[in-house]
Amino acid sequence: MRTRIIAGNWKMNTTPDEASALVAEIVSSSTVQQAPLSVRIVVCPPYLSLSSAIQSSVGSHVVIGAQNCHHEEKGAYTGEVSPVVLHGMGVKYVIVGHSERRRDQFENNELVGRKAARALACGLTPIICVGETLDEREDDITTDVIGTQIRLITSAAGEDVIKGSVIAYEPVWAIGTGRAATPIQAQDVHAFIRSELHIFGAQDVPILYGGSVTDENASTLFTCRDIDGALVGGASLKASSFCAIIEAASGVHGR
Ligand code: 13P
Repeated sequence: MRTRIIAGNWKMNTTPDEASALVAEIVSSSTVQQAPLSVRIVVCPPYLSLSSAIQSSVGSHVVIGAQNCHHEEKGAYTGEVSPVVLHGMGVKYVIVGHSERRRDQFENNELVGRKAARALACGLTPIICVGETLDEREDDITTDVIGTQIRLITSAAGEDVIKGSVIAYEPVWAIGTGRAATPIQAQDVHAFIRSELHIFGAQDVPILYGGSVTDENASTLFTCRDIDGALVGGASLKASSFCAIIEAASGVHGR
């Protein structure tokens, strides 16, 4: 049975105090307290709020992820954050290759693969993001783009790293736009990703959908056969909407 995961990407939001309060609210909700253990709940605050989020999550079903890490353990990399340090703090997951970092920090697939490999070697589970732009979808090259992303990331990271990771399909045009992929659009791409993963025996890796997921569209997305959960941006910043998305995942039978 594949693991289901609901992960919140808080992006550059929340001070340490706000993160602590938001995690406390999520942890104490009846949805989270009653969520089946087969649904993993992850929140990814900004670096400087990780510590307070971890403290608020102790003893709960909620685990903490980071939004990025460096591809080396240590060295002369001014301003960077090592995956060893994240792991030592109690961080369990790390997002790599988010489209905002590809766009703003010019991260490419090879770097994303190296980050994923280092993160896994340091005890973190990478959440590897892939997805097409609107132009690429309109040019009908979505699967070419995503197939290339997966192949380049895999050749940099190694097949075993992909087997230990989580994939997030985040169409760039759906992020922060209020225009989520339809369940059919998302399922088509998830099925394609799963068939690509099958080539190297990684077909059981959870594949999350991300891009304007809300408490209103989550349950329909979760009925799709190849959607194993969500990577949620805006709607993860309010405990009520994030918990409603967790509830929608909790009602879906595992596959
Ligand atoms: P939104 O849910 O705000 O569209 O963001 C999605 C995202 O980028 C998650 O990583």
